[in-house]
Amino acid sequence: MNVLEELKRAKGTFVSGARLASSLGLTRAAIHKQIQRHRKMGYLISGTPHSGYRLAESPQVLNPAAFDGPFGSPFVHFDALPSTQEEAKRMALRGAKEGTIVSADVQTRGRGRLGRAWKSPKGGLWFSLILRPPLPPAQTLALPLVAALALAREIRSSTGLPACVKWPNDVWIGSRKVAGLLTEMSSETDRVQWMVIGVGVNVNNLPPRGTTVPAQSLKRALGRPVPRQGVLGPWLASFGKDYKQFLKEGFAPFRDAYQKEMLWFGRKGRCVAGSQRLKGKILGVDDAGRLLFLTDRGRRLALNEGEIRFTPLPSPVR
Ligand code: BTN
Repeated sequence: MNVLEELKRAKGTFVSGARLASSLGLTRAAIHKQIQRHRKMGYLISGTPHSGYRLAESPQVLNPAAFDGPFGSPFVHFDALPSTQEEAKRMALRGAKEGTIVSADVQTRGRGRLGRAWKSPKGGLWFSLILRPPLPPAQTLALPLVAALALAREIRSSTGLPACVKWPNDVWIGSRKVAGLLTEMSSETDRVQWMVIGVGVNVNNLPPRGTTVPAQSLKRALGRPVPRQGVLGPWLASFGKDYKQFLKEGFAPFRDAYQKEMLWFGRKGRCVAGSQRLKGKILGVDDAGRLLFLTDRGRRLALNEGEIRFTPLPSPVR
């Protein structure tokens, strides 16, 4: 039995900290720590010094009060929207501040990269983050790679699943895609005005069918539901830190970590990269986030096009 189960048993009534501590054989400080952890996962637990704790609402609700770091305020949530990306872009144009998040339980016209549709039923995590990096546009190109890297890392640490990044900014588990990022921006020649990073994670929804690559969801891969807050909260905190570092130092400090977690790193094969068909080996990424590829004829390429696909799709290296 843990704190959460005790609170669930109390069916919305208050349970004192002292009672929780004695029935679970823990100190009051340990109870408080557990409560904080559950709040971060999206449980709305109210507490007063006199009455104790009460479970007000279970997750699947996103709880902005539990977000750490610079992002997530304001947090604008909708039951349904055509696309959080479109709404966030509208808000960015009207001057919404950096860190604003727009999320929706359902998107009716979700958009993916390369003009594709993005299926967004209930259960998934669909949101867009507004950024205003004080950089020229060319220096922001690898920022979505940093965001994807943080997402893979946080999915791994919150679920234990072997999530990794697929260049440029997908997250895959095994040989299936579980999440994708769509980045759009508006800029002058020397300065970005706004950037919107749209993130879609198949969390508790069924993996969509009929997609260009096989899809996965966290619930399907893990065999149990996963609180969406437990993915969003840690990602916001982690990417918040990475973003600050990226503004100062660019992609170089993230390059090694990206390559370590990169699907197909070092793999030889036939590869479709944007409009090119190539045979050779993936060498990694450069300091600008471009994909480095060595062809069988000895040509070293730095690719910045669309996405890569191996044909036929091999099993992942790790
Ligand atoms: C991809 O093609 O892999 C990118 C998918 C991005 C989907 C997200 S869901 C939230 C945001 N709103 C959208 O319409 N698209 C992005």
